[in-house]
Amino acid sequence: MTAVSTRLLQLPKAELHLHIEGTLEPGLVFALARRNGVDLPYRDEAELRGKYSFNNLQSFLDLYYDCMAVLTTRQDFADLARSYYGKAREQGVRHVEMFFDPQAHVRRGVDFDDIVDGLNQAIAEAWTDHGISGGLILSFLRDEPLESAESVWDRAKERPERFIAVGLDSAEAGFPPARFGPIFAQARALGLNAVAHAGEEGPPSYIWEALDELNVDRIDHGIRALEDDDLVRRLVREAIPLTVCPLSNVRLGCVPDLASHRLPEMLAKGLVVTVNSDDPAYFGGYVGDNFVALDAAFGLDEATAARLARNSVLASFATSDRKNELMALVDSWEAQA
Ligand code: HPA
Ligand code: ZN
Repeated sequence: MTAVSTRLLQLPKAELHLHIEGTLEPGLVFALARRNGVDLPYRDEAELRGKYSFNNLQSFLDLYYDCMAVLTTRQDFADLARSYYGKAREQGVRHVEMFFDPQAHVRRGVDFDDIVDGLNQAIAEAWTDHGISGGLILSFLRDEPLESAESVWDRAKERPERFIAVGLDSAEAGFPPARFGPIFAQARALGLNAVAHAGEEGPPSYIWEALDELNVDRIDHGIRALEDDDLVRRLVREAIPLTVCPLSNVRLGCVPDLASHRLPEMLAKGLVVTVNSDDPAYFGGYVGDNFVALDAAFGLDEATAARLARNSVLASFATSDRKNELMALVDSWEAQA
């Protein structure tokens, strides 16, 4: 490991775009399959890893949903998140806002409360054991019938304090956000924040729609905003954060390679860009690794790295006291240069 990589891994940062199911590493897939007596269609970890080559979002989602079959109990969800936090600590992560996809589990017969309580238990332990703050983002699958989202939402709204936000993910193209408007309005009325994946594979119009119809605080991905100058002006004017995931964009074929990623241009235009990992077990790196890869691709100077880390803190849903603490950590990282 080079001195620059070590330094970027130490940079204190918030991870705002992480699907906890996307942290399921092959070793854990097999360990949980053994524990739960689940038959896997792969002989071993090497064979599973051999499937990690994707041409688009859907080809990834197919494997992502298949591997989830090993997650069944409250303990499985707690162990999954605990295992993630072990990694997060080594990546300089101090705050995590974690997506989970309840519909993908409930449809397999898993109890909603087991998922939520297992994850929240690990989130509470991360604070006491590692000083990592954060919370859960309940994400709806946009490519499933609305009734499926509504039935999960009926369970969630009984105790909304278990979540920090609602989100929207899964196959994007052909699934515009607007029909989730009523659920998002209810979530906002209960005090939850809102985010949505938009402009990853889908067109810029889905970003407009997420802003206008879902009233989101942040856009996840949002890279295709660059195709629409009016949209870029609005995102800059309203300082809407974009949770960009560089290694994910390359692995899913949204950009040809990291050197052609337009993140530098997004920063130059004044967009509030953050760097995140999306599904790190599948895409070749956790959030610190994304910083290291960006540095290798186009040289990330210390000021830019610190700006990205500050954006992640300011774009988070942490309390203002916690944001001040995290900003001070970034300041002292920069002062150590
Ligand atoms: N996009 C949409 N849905 C997802 C993703 C993603 O990158 N990862 C997990 N679910
Ligand atoms: Zn995502």
